[in-house]
Amino acid sequence: MKTIDDLQVAGRRVFVRADLNVPLDGETITDDGRIRAALPTITRLAEAGAKVIVASHLGRPKGAPDPKFSLAPVAKRLGELLDAHVEFATDTVGDSAKSTVAALGDGRVAVLENLRFNPGETSKDDAERGAFADSLAALADLYVGDGFGAVHRRHASVYDLPARLPHAAGDLIATEVGVLRRLTEDVKRPYTVVLGGAKVSDKLGVIEHLLERADRIVIGGGMAYTFLKAQGHEVGASLLQEDQLPAVRGYLERAKERGVEFVLPVDVMAAAEFPDLGAKAPTNPTVVAADAIPADLMGLDIGPRSRELYAAKLADAATVFWNGPMGVFEHPDYAEGTRAVARALIDSPAFTVVGGGDSAAAVRILGFDEKAFGHISTGGGASLEYLEGKTLPGLAALEG
Ligand code: 3PG
Repeated sequence: MKTIDDLQVAGRRVFVRADLNVPLDGETITDDGRIRAALPTITRLAEAGAKVIVASHLGRPKGAPDPKFSLAPVAKRLGELLDAHVEFATDTVGDSAKSTVAALGDGRVAVLENLRFNPGETSKDDAERGAFADSLAALADLYVGDGFGAVHRRHASVYDLPARLPHAAGDLIATEVGVLRRLTEDVKRPYTVVLGGAKVSDKLGVIEHLLERADRIVIGGGMAYTFLKAQGHEVGASLLQEDQLPAVRGYLERAKERGVEFVLPVDVMAAAEFPDLGAKAPTNPTVVAADAIPADLMGLDIGPRSRELYAAKLADAATVFWNGPMGVFEHPDYAEGTRAVARALIDSPAFTVVGGGDSAAAVRILGFDEKAFGHISTGGGASLEYLEGKTLPGLAALEG
C-alpha cells in the first residue's frame, strides 16, 4: 500500500476520504474523536502545499440532502482544531463543490457536504456508483484514503474513486492497519477479548473468528442476555435475540471443546423500563443475580460482582481487544460496567485496543485519557470485519 510519502502533493488537488461520522446532538458534536483522528493526514498534506479536499459521510441519509446530516458542524470543528479557515461546499459534486475547489489555495482545506446526499455514493449498482466516482474524480488530481471507519463499505468514494486517481493510504489507515495486524498475526498471549453492545447478530462473524484465536472471551452489554438464555437462565424483559440462540449454543459448545473460556455476567443492574437518555433522571436500579432475572425486569448493565470478575479476567492478559459497551453507559445508573472495563484496560500492562464507535465514544464520554490505551480504533464495523479476516473494499482499493 502506498503512503502519502509516495505522492507529489504540492500544488495538487488532493481528495481525502475521511470518516468524520461523529455523533451529533442537534448541531452539537458530542464526541469529536474521529475529527481529531483525521488531523495528522490533513495537516501533513496542507503543510506540504496541497489543496486539501476533505470528504466524508455522516449518518445514513437516504441519498438526498437532509439538514440533520449536514457536515457543516464538522467543517466548523475541523477549522477550530486546525486553527485555520476551512471552506465548506454545500454540495458534493455540484456548483458549490466545483467553485470551492477552484478557488482553493495551496495549503488550504475545504470540506464537501455529506457524500451520502448523493444516491451514487452507496448505490449497489456499479454504473451509478461509477458515475458518482467520475464526478468526484473530476474535482481532484490525487486520492488519499484515510476513512478507516468506512473501509468495509463498497461505496463510490471508498472503493470506486481510488481506481480513478493516483492514490495512497493516509496516516490513520496506516496506523489502524498496523495495530489490527498485531491482533491477527503473532498475537501475544493470553489474548482476551471483551465484546459488548446490543446485538449478538452484529458480532457473529467476529465470534466465529475469535473462537479459533482468543484464549478468553468476556461478554457484556445487551448481547449477554442471549448467552445467559442459551445457558438455560431466565432473562426477564432483557434484550433477547431468540433467533440467535442456536448459534450461541454452538459457540458455547465449541468454546468448551477448544478450551476458550467464555465469561458471562454473574449479576446485572436491572430496572422495569429502559432509562430516558435525554433527561437522565435517576432510575433506582436493582442488582439481581444473572441467573435469576425477575420476569418484569430488564438487565441494563453488568452488576458489581461482574465488574470485579471482569477486571480479574483482564488482569493477566497480554493482549486485549474490546468492542462494545457493557451496558447503557449513556445513563449514569448504567455506566459503571463500561467504566470498570475501561479502567481494567488502563490498569493492564497488556497491549490494549479499543475498537468500535460506541466503546471508543464511551471511553471519551466517561472522561478517560485516550492515551492510557494502547490504541483506540476509529472503526466499529471496520475493525470487526478486519478481525474476521474479510477483504475490506476500501483497503483492497488502496492496494491496487
Ligand atoms: C461507522 O460509524 O461505523 C462508520 O462511519 C460507517 O458508518 P455506516 O455503518 O453508516 O456505513
